Amino acid sequence: MAARREIRILNSADELFRAAAEEFAGRAAEAVQLRGRFCVALSGGSTPKTLYALLASGAIPGIPWDKIFLFWGDERHVPPDDPESNYRMVKESLLAKVSLPAGNVFRIKAEDPDAARAAADYERTLVSFFGLQPGEFPRFDLILLGLGPEGHVASLFPGSAAMNEKKRLVVSNWVEKFKTDRITFTFPVLNHGACVMFLASGQGKAAIVKQVLEDDGEPLPAKLVQPEDGDLLWFLDKDAAP
Ligand code: 6PG
Repeated sequence: MAARREIRILNSADELFRAAAEEFAGRAAEAVQLRGRFCVALSGGSTPKTLYALLASGAIPGIPWDKIFLFWGDERHVPPDDPESNYRMVKESLLAKVSLPAGNVFRIKAEDPDAARAAADYERTLVSFFGLQPGEFPRFDLILLGLGPEGHVASLFPGSAAMNEKKRLVVSNWVEKFKTDRITFTFPVLNHGACVMFLASGQGKAAIVKQVLEDDGEPLPAKLVQPEDGDLLWFLDKDAAP
């Protein structure tokens, strides 16, 4: 089936997260039917929290949690109980509320004081989980992404070193803006996904969404997310839409 490129504009934030949750559930059912498992890379930040809570609420029935394997597309360089931790956000909004086997959850060990070592560790986790040969990239069934104010995705920020990474799966990336390292998937991993779903909600995202979707200017990180053989879905509410 040809790769889909789709921009879905929903009337409200509630409708946006409902539609995103249904897309998640639909893809989970299909992947489990076809391959026995659903491998997802979660996004951090604040936007997806509502999606995770909705998925955990039971409002969308029949999600095969025991066959779902969770990964993170990026993490802040903090311990898992830190308020900044993307793992903690997911734990509180989703993991604490659903019966997902602990062995199905692969968090980034960002408590390691050496961010590069944490990235290499996570890379090994991906290689062993997906059974990758050298030079191969994992194919996630679904990769969730938010959108940063300057167009960053995961922790791939404009002008940062990881923007040019072509071989690694996961790297530590110095983010001058926050004066910290982040641990992040690279573009090759994002672009090997079977489906990449962007979520953006609210007036605050409208300018950057317009720049990414309509403006032929500078190659913002979000523009470089072009799955080679996968669907690219933009889920927006009307306030965030161009
Ligand atoms: C992170 C995210 C990052 C996020 C954007 C948007 O760790 O912060 O992975 O890429 O998606 O910064 O964040 P908001 O959803 O909070 O606007």
